[in-house]
Amino acid sequence: MRVVSIKDVSFEAFKGQIFQIFLSQSSYQKHDVDTQWSYFEKWVGIYYKNWPDWFFVAVKDNEILGYICACPNSLAAIDKISFKSYHLFKEVYKDNPVHFHINVKAGITGKGIGAQLLHAITHKASSEGYKNLHIITSSHEKNVNFYHKYGFKTIASKSLGAFDLLLMRLDLGLSLPNKIDKYLQS
Ligand SMILES: CC(C)(COP(=O)(O)OP(=O)(O)OC[C@H]1O[C@@H](n2cnc3c(N)ncnc32)[C@H](O)[C@@H]1OP(=O)(O)O)[C@@H](O)C(=O)NCCC(=O)NCCS
Repeated sequence: MRVVSIKDVSFEAFKGQIFQIFLSQSSYQKHDVDTQWSYFEKWVGIYYKNWPDWFFVAVKDNEILGYICACPNSLAAIDKISFKSYHLFKEVYKDNPVHFHINVKAGITGKGIGAQLLHAITHKASSEGYKNLHIITSSHEKNVNFYHKYGFKTIASKSLGAFDLLLMRLDLGLSLPNKIDKYLQS
């Protein structure tokens, strides 16, 4: 398995597989296919269209196992990205410009694929001189543990009734915990 830039493998060729991964990890399965694709464009396609240099996939034998995509200027992108959770945190984007979105194919999580995707995007952000990157997630999601494991800290939260939306940030410059090496060598 390797993590590569989407530009090295062609987004169009793998769009169907990336769509299936997105769908497998979303609550949109119950919708009709056209609606599912419109959600896909809103959550994933938008990143490829605007920031293809910040889009990486984990690939093995021509199969996409996961993807990570980021926007390096969240404030400037406010009129491009329409999901509500993103707009809720706009006051912090000046100091936290890079946000990302990650998914690993259902059924093969917990095998180090997310760690390798995270490594690719942190490397990209560091090499471009950014000091941090962040994700928006919910307090009830299991993925919060994944982010904690790699040193993300909650720096802002918004109450949404039963749970909180969290903006979790990773400060770059500090290396990711050594644990990630285990996955990078395999
Ligand atoms: C969150 C996600 C991207 C992590 O990718 P992954 O490939 O499953 O994670 P990894 O295998 O690289 O995890 C690395 C470490 O984090 C831990 N970890 C991963 N997911 C975890 C979870 N949900 N809860 C607790 N620990 C978790 C792993 O156990 C592993 O630790 P270990 O080395 O001690 O075993 C993936 O599980 C996923 O796509 N989940 C569903 C969709 C989702 O939540 N997307 C993110 C939206 S914000």
